[in-house]
Order: sequence, then C-alpha cells, then structure tokens
Amino acid sequence: MTPLDVGVVGAGWMGHAHARSYLRVPHHYRDLGARPRLLAVADPVADLREDAVDRYGFETGLDNWQRLVDDPRIRVVSVTTPTFLHAEIGQAVGAAGKHLWIEKPVGLSLDETRRVRDAVAAAGVVGRVGFNYRHAPAVVKARALVRSGAIGTVTHARFRLLTDYAAHPGGVLSWRFESARGGDGVVGDLVSHGVDLVRYLVGEIAAVVAEGGVFIADRPLPSGSGSHYEVATGGPQGRVENLDHLSALMRTDSDVPVQLESSRVAVGNQNNYGFEIHGTQGSVAWDFRRMPELRISTGTEYQNQPVTDTTVGPGDGDYGRFQPGAGIAMGYDDLKVAECADLLSAVLGVPGSGLGATLDDAVAAAAVMAALNESVAKQAWTTVPPTAG
Ligand SMILES: NC(=O)c1ccc[n+]([C@@H]2O[C@H](COP(=O)([O-])OP(=O)(O)OC[C@H]3O[C@@H](n4cnc5c(N)ncnc54)[C@H](O)[C@@H]3O)[C@@H](O)[C@H]2O)c1
Repeated sequence: MTPLDVGVVGAGWMGHAHARSYLRVPHHYRDLGARPRLLAVADPVADLREDAVDRYGFETGLDNWQRLVDDPRIRVVSVTTPTFLHAEIGQAVGAAGKHLWIEKPVGLSLDETRRVRDAVAAAGVVGRVGFNYRHAPAVVKARALVRSGAIGTVTHARFRLLTDYAAHPGGVLSWRFESARGGDGVVGDLVSHGVDLVRYLVGEIAAVVAEGGVFIADRPLPSGSGSHYEVATGGPQGRVENLDHLSALMRTDSDVPVQLESSRVAVGNQNNYGFEIHGTQGSVAWDFRRMPELRISTGTEYQNQPVTDTTVGPGDGDYGRFQPGAGIAMGYDDLKVAECADLLSAVLGVPGSGLGATLDDAVAAAAVMAALNESVAKQAWTTVPPTAG
C-alpha cells in the first residue's frame, strides 16, 4: 500500500464526508494500493477542527489553511470550505503542486473556476470536483443505456433538484444566502449538480432560458457560522441575497430540449433529485432517494410500452466495490468514497473508474451556470459562453 498524505480544509459537513472517504478507500478499493493518511485538517473554528481530529485521527488541527497547503508532506488537499474561499485555496493548492479534490461549485463565477482549473493544469497535478451523483451506479447504467441507443435517439428530458433545507422561514442566514460568500444560491448549490448530470447523460448545453425567485426574503441571523439545516426563532433578521428557486429550459448542442427545476425551499421534497430522459423508443428515469433503482422502458411498442423497475448490481459502475449482490442499498457517503477512489487512482496513475468530474467539467458547468444567471437577469434565451482558453 502506498501511503498518501492528505489534508482537509474545512471541517463542516463536506469536510467530514471527505475525511471518511479517504479512510474508507482501502476498504473498498484494495487493488488501488493507496493508504491515505490524514495529516491535517484546517478550520478557524476550534471546536470543529478538534472534533475532526478526534473522530478521524488527523495528526494535527490547524487554524490556518495556508499552513496546511505549505506542509511539504501533504500531497492531496480537499477543499470543503464555504464557496467564496474555493478559488483562493484551490489556486494555492495547485501552485503548491498538490493534487486537489474541491467541492462544487469550484468558484463563485466562471472566471474563478477557470483560474482554479488553470492553476492545477499548470502544475500538472490531478483535480477533481465533487459532482458525486455521477458515481451512482444507476446513473452510470443510465448513461450506458442512453449511449447504446437502447431508448432510441434522445428527444427530451427533465431534471429536478428539489429540497427543503431552506424551506423553514427560521432557517438561519448562513453564508449560503449571501452573494459574497455563497454566490448565486440554489444555482451553485444544486443546479450545478443538475448541469453536470445533463452534460454527463444527455450532452453539452448550448443555450438556456431561465427564471429565478426568492421566496423567503429575510432570515434570522445565525448565532455562530450557521449550519446547513439550522433553524432559529426570534432575533434580528438579514436579507437573502441569492436565488431560492430556478426554473430553466436548456437546449443541448444536438438540439435536445431539457427542463431543469431546482429549489432549496420545496416544502415536502427532501433531496428529491433525479431525471427522466425520453428517446424515440424508450425512456429511463432515476430518483436519488431510491438510489439503486432505474425505471426503464425499451422496445418497439411505442404506445403502452411496459416500464420495468430494475435494481442495479455488481457490474454497474462501482456497485460491486460496496455490495456483493443487487438490491442492497448504497448511500450518499458511498458516492464520495467512489469519487475519492477515482481521484486517488489518477494521482497514482493506476486504472480507476474514470468516472469522476474533472476541473474541465467544473468549468463547463460554470459556463452553463453563468448563462443561467444572465438569462434570469435579462429574461431571454442566452448562449452558453465558450470554455476553451
Ligand atoms: N457535493 C455535495 O453534494 C455537497 C453537499 C454539501 C455541500 N457541498 C459544498 O461543499 C462546500 C462546503 O459545504 P458544507 O455543507 O460542508 O458547509 P459547512 O458550513 O458545513 O462547512 C464549511 C466549513 O468550512 C469552515 N471554514 C470557514 N472558513 C474557513 C477557512 N478560512 N479555512 C478553513 N475552513 C474554513 C467552516 O468553519 C466550516 O466548518 C460548499 O461549497 C458546498 O457547496 C457539496
């Protein structure tokens, strides 16, 4: 086993998910030959970093991410801070010649995302972004089905990312609701995942038209940094500065119309993420909450064509790395383990799933998000800007 020294910047939800993933890679991917060692976690909040050190066995906790990036022993760095810090830290990681695993969205803008991509490319190191849903074995199977022509030629599709983490009017005004720290709200937070899935499953997005809304205009100020699902009552309130909801129609470069709706305030929807893709001879549908299942319709009957509920199993994506037989549920954290294994295989130069999203994928998604934001502002169809250069 090759020891790989790792640092994690940010000890919040994603910091924990990344730390657990490094530790679990040798359990599921022994043949990779990688033994990640958690050297340092950096977070300015003492309680959080001490808790992470205690839980996962980091050698040290630091109050300053620069010290982590400067540690010559560390070869791989996870960036899991609030979004506004991603570009600065991501570029510093690249400049230090370390491999980068960075959460989505990589930057607050297309320009920031490009800068991180370019720093990593200039250093010749590996970069991966946390578009985890593409690692779900059912999503991998759906992609293979679409590419094989099993549903005919793709004609139209719908993608949804509907959830309720911000639906409570007392949900606190964390960094997520500020444009300077959280960016464009639901666009970077959830739509980014949807855009990645559209690109992965249907094709490159050429043009978009979108409408956005804010349904809870003011929220209570948090007492601390404010966690994702924290609710408060009373006290002073502050203004929400970015979108709660986005509704978009997009056109791929092969002229497939794709609807995408995303909301962080959808009462009654908890992580209701998924898609339905229609072709001339069939369809395929997936729901994240029923992760191993795919609803598939193929054949030549067109009307009243049967729909089959299929359960993925060994042979579909990385499913066999986690469970020996079909129908044993995988979870969200498993997707992060698969993502981590893809990163580490690229770092070591050994064969991996090759399924992970690169920083070029992040730039392509950021270009679509820039077009979506522009379309919301001008209320018109908008061409996705080119991402080369
Ligand atoms: N891939 C996914 O499914 C997914 C899910 C949730 C969040 N995310 C992304 O991950 C990122 C973090 O989200 P989260 O939910 O973990 O947020 P969080 O608020 O739970 O955690 C962020 C952590 O960063 C720390 N931090 C703040 N400033 C820092 C600094 N200067 N140096 C080091 N640490 C600092 C905070 O103290 C906090 O512990 C966001 O960009 C978000 O979009 C991705």
